[in-house]
Amino acid sequence: MTRAYVSCDMASVALGADDIADALAAAGCEVIRTGARGLFAIEPLVEIETTDGARIAFGPVEPEDVPAILDGTHPNRIGDLATMPFFAKQQRFTFARCGITDPLSMADYTAHDGWKGLAAARALAPQAVVDAVKASGLRGRGGAGFPTGIKWQTVLDATAPEKFIVCNADEGDSGTFADRMLMEGDPYCLLEGMAIAGHAVGASHGYIYVRSEYPFAIRALNAAIERAAPILAPLTVEVRVGAGAYVCGEETALLESIEGKRGQVRAKPPLPAIQGLFGQPTVINNVLSLAAVPFILAEGPERYAEVGFGRSRGTMPVQLAGNVKNGGLFEIGFGITLGELVNAIGGGTESGRPVRAVQVGGPLGAYFPPSMFDTPFDYEAFAAAGGLIGHAGITVFDDSVDMAAMARFAMEFCAIESCGKCTPCRIGSTRGVETIDRIKGAAKREQALEAMPQMRNAKVKHRSVDEEIGVLRDLCETMKFGSLCALGGFTPYPVLSALDHFPEDFGGAPALPQAAE
Ligand SMILES: Cc1cc2nc3c(=O)[nH]c(=O)nc-3n(C[C@H](O)[C@H](O)[C@H](O)COP(=O)(O)O)c2cc1C
Ligand code: SF4
Repeated sequence: MTRAYVSCDMASVALGADDIADALAAAGCEVIRTGARGLFAIEPLVEIETTDGARIAFGPVEPEDVPAILDGTHPNRIGDLATMPFFAKQQRFTFARCGITDPLSMADYTAHDGWKGLAAARALAPQAVVDAVKASGLRGRGGAGFPTGIKWQTVLDATAPEKFIVCNADEGDSGTFADRMLMEGDPYCLLEGMAIAGHAVGASHGYIYVRSEYPFAIRALNAAIERAAPILAPLTVEVRVGAGAYVCGEETALLESIEGKRGQVRAKPPLPAIQGLFGQPTVINNVLSLAAVPFILAEGPERYAEVGFGRSRGTMPVQLAGNVKNGGLFEIGFGITLGELVNAIGGGTESGRPVRAVQVGGPLGAYFPPSMFDTPFDYEAFAAAGGLIGHAGITVFDDSVDMAAMARFAMEFCAIESCGKCTPCRIGSTRGVETIDRIKGAAKREQALEAMPQMRNAKVKHRSVDEEIGVLRDLCETMKFGSLCALGGFTPYPVLSALDHFPEDFGGAPALPQAAE
């Protein structure tokens, strides 16, 4: 019987993978559902197994293409995916199995090096596991880039009746989907990482906090937890479903939410590592941080650390999204330039128009113009360029984008998603929207002033665009340095980068590097 592989990932299914799988089964094939390979331009994708175990890929395909796929004549025959540049250039440490194995098959997972990291960890004392994670140089993939080993050390050193492992799978950043892809395509990898963390710090219970918009991931995780329970023991794991508030991805708001409270940010200190979930020492890590750990323990921290750039060690699963030709997941060692990612890997815009800007790191990330495309993908280099890597989502925009509208969107997003606890974020974001509206002449200034009774006797004086931009910059400074968490503190990044690199969209003269292009 011919064996065919079709992804069951939510994005592949949205593109029609279920229909292809049904058509292949109706044609007499044995259909194995896998995770996604990660290049959505070729989905729905079918891989046919040859007699020697190799796989021949076809994509994108339609259900009526099945006969041509099976006789090998379909024009969208790709052949061996490993030789396709998009895949050949990757260094898949974390996503090695995704798209290859049946996500819920324990036999597949074990056959593809699964549980090796956990076995290696359990042969070591907890301190040695923490030392290995420190030596790997792994930094948190959720956004802040904090060294994972140091976080684990704090929890290991804490004395408490109970400790917890919390996996942050809220994945709220625009243009990101790596957590979802991993949870759907290789859920045991995450569970293995959590079990290693549990052994390292002495925790016996774990939570995975997933957003409700990820029903496939929730289903896959619940099934995987049930099947892997004997291997995970003494760690028990449960899934908690969030309601989709962006701020619930912030670690302390997330802990509040798991505790059944409103998702509002807690002041730090105390750090969650000292007093986290239910007041107990808690490791809270992103999906990708935890899923990187099995490789580190199985292959050794040196193997992980030998890849990378500066203080950014290992690989990063970069997500290419927005107006980009080759949207998808590309795992690569740090150090590749932004331009290579957008143009060489991403293939430029889907619209075919010139790239004007890319936003890196979700809704709180800065906009980069093409003149900055030589920036290496590295935490420090991005910080020095006024940006952040965040969860490594890259959203591409062509030359039809209005950057003042994007700056307004950043402030509006913050106003909607603010938890309301601190003034710079709660009020500043709303004032930010109003200021950008005034800059763009979208609001009637006189009305806004005259509506305030205390301003009755004030002379109504219009601010010039330059003065309004000064107000906006002041507001950004206040939000940056006065906000309690990074939602208010980082919203200025997209706003200021739009102002700095695209002043012409705010009524100013073009920025110099762009004008020179
Ligand atoms: C507003 C806001 C939203 C966040 N959303 C997420 C998220 O969706 N997923 C995530 O892993 N981290 C998110 N973070 C970062 C977390 O607070 C925290 O740094 C992370 O879970 C720590 O894990 P790591 O060290 O493995 O990155 C967010 C932070 C802020 C301020
Ligand atoms: S910055 Fe915003 S989201 Fe963060 S604590 Fe303050 S009000 Fe809440």
